[in-house]
Amino acid sequence: MQFPGAHAVHDPAGPQAAMLDGLGNLLYGVATVVFVLVVGALLAAALRRRRPDEDPEDPARERRITLVVAGAVGATVAVLLIALVGSYAAGRELAARPAGEALQIRVTGYQWWWAVEYRDSVPQNWATAANEIHVPVGRPVVLELRSNDVIHSLWLPNLGVKRDLIPGEATSIRFQADSAGVYRGECAEFCGHQHAKMALLVVAEPPDRFAAWLARQRDTARTPVDSAARRGQEVFLTSTCVMCHAVQGTPAGSRFGPDLTHLAGRRTIAAGTQPNTRGNQAGWIMDPQRIKPGVRMPPNALAPNDLQALLAYLESLE
Ligand code: CUA
Repeated sequence: MQFPGAHAVHDPAGPQAAMLDGLGNLLYGVATVVFVLVVGALLAAALRRRRPDEDPEDPARERRITLVVAGAVGATVAVLLIALVGSYAAGRELAARPAGEALQIRVTGYQWWWAVEYRDSVPQNWATAANEIHVPVGRPVVLELRSNDVIHSLWLPNLGVKRDLIPGEATSIRFQADSAGVYRGECAEFCGHQHAKMALLVVAEPPDRFAAWLARQRDTARTPVDSAARRGQEVFLTSTCVMCHAVQGTPAGSRFGPDLTHLAGRRTIAAGTQPNTRGNQAGWIMDPQRIKPGVRMPPNALAPNDLQALLAYLESLE
């Protein structure tokens, strides 16, 4: 499947990513020059023939060799200094406090999905999403990273973000997206059976669109109006779904699995495993173990009518 979202270290979408990309290019450049010089010197030494009249004890020759070795040592020290200064400058820039007011987002790793929380001093303004982080373009973002179980690592290649999520310890990392777009990220630390299916998307959008998105996320779920969706809500609330999932505005409030309040607005399901389509939803609900073996979600043998009603309800959760 073609996964939505850009996914390239060398296509930076923000200042931190550009800084890291620049440092990478500097190191590749220096390493290439060193490689060419070393191979050149090696070939020159291997192909050189000693002249018959050459005197191994000649003091001028000795001086020349000393000069070459001293020059090589000096060049090595210079190269290491360039790398040191470059990486120090990049590290300083990455750790610097953001200029504007940063947007705080809490991201928690679970086996194998990501909880995304937008907290606020007013608890009614909290919003919870999953596997999709929306950010406004041009504003610094601080991700507060936690893990619920084992060590995960959040990696957003286009945004210069890579940081471990450690159980019992909050870490943080900041970034800024300067170009609007959808960027793919994933878990970069082996965390069990379905580590490879622990992806997420970062959606960077203009500030007004982001504000509209966040306002919608803060809303509780709409009460379904059409009869199929209403029936689906009944199925949802009376089946095992409520053991793990929350839909704000209904009695379903479990935090064991992803919050589904605005599921229909997400681009993918099962932490970036499949596009969010009705057919994929159906397959996932019936037998998630076939798609993501080992996932905590159990199979759900729903009657066909109940399944269709449930799908209509999930589609209404915008
Ligand atoms: Cu989470 Cu690998």
